Amino acid sequence: MKKNKIVVIGSINMDLVMRVPYIPNIGETIMGKSVERIPGGKGANQAFTAAKLGANVSMLGKIGGDEFGARLIESMQNAGVDTSCIDLEADASSGLAIIQVNDEGDNSIVVLSGANELCNKSYIIAHENVIGEAGIVIVQMEVPNEAVYQAIELASKSDAIMILNPAPAPDYIPDHVLEKIDYLVPNETELQKLTGMPVHSIETAGTASRTLLSKGLKNMIVTLGSKGSLLVNSDGIVHFPAPNVQAIDTTAAGDSFVAAFAVGLSEGKSDKDAIAFATKVAAIVVTRAGAQTSIPDRREVDAAT
Ligand code: RIB
Repeated sequence: MKKNKIVVIGSINMDLVMRVPYIPNIGETIMGKSVERIPGGKGANQAFTAAKLGANVSMLGKIGGDEFGARLIESMQNAGVDTSCIDLEADASSGLAIIQVNDEGDNSIVVLSGANELCNKSYIIAHENVIGEAGIVIVQMEVPNEAVYQAIELASKSDAIMILNPAPAPDYIPDHVLEKIDYLVPNETELQKLTGMPVHSIETAGTASRTLLSKGLKNMIVTLGSKGSLLVNSDGIVHFPAPNVQAIDTTAAGDSFVAAFAVGLSEGKSDKDAIAFATKVAAIVVTRAGAQTSIPDRREVDAAT
């Protein structure tokens, strides 16, 4: 890889995080324990993580003209992200995520797009030069599909390594798009939605992954939560177990995994070594509360066993 810059394209949200004893059922009212506003958004979390781990990172995305916008930019800048290409949409509100986290650290998330919805194809085309500077481009799916697919097109034109984190997952990804992705990184639920196949074990995740590989995808990395992750490609399947840790809050675990994997690749690691590095980072993230508040810096990761 000639260029070591990472460009992240995607959502920027303020997270309204409520700790709850358990996720309530339909029609049920329960009492929460605490509420906090924490900078988040899958795109912003990934840019934030990559920068904290020491990478050269630019973020593309949009914030609204409300009080949250400035705070979201400030958080990314404090981590070292170049935010100069993020657009302010004065008439829109910033992306907002309502998150419930239960006593086991599991969450449920509802996102209101706000300005993220305006991160469209023409905005991506207007920043072709930024994408052209990247050695690695990361995209997720909380911005319009047309922007995601355009970013993939531009990344493939400039020979950047393309990583798509299909979260939230669409029903399918067109074959001509799949062919241009170097690493697709879904979790089990997302893989199930993308393929329409049951995914509840390492074996079924492998089988579902192979259907996408047969359509031209080069590599699949399936994140399996506490069970670790799987790398599936034409060489076969490799399972990477996750260390046993006490989870406090799993928010941003997937985001940090994706970003740390990209950082590993940008440093010249093999994909297997980059996954091992990402596994270590995500294992720290789940032991802390919040999205960007849970991300370790490089010194902490290197010091962890
Ligand atoms: O992956 C976690 C993120 O998902 C949260 O920060 C929230 O904003 C949603 O985008």
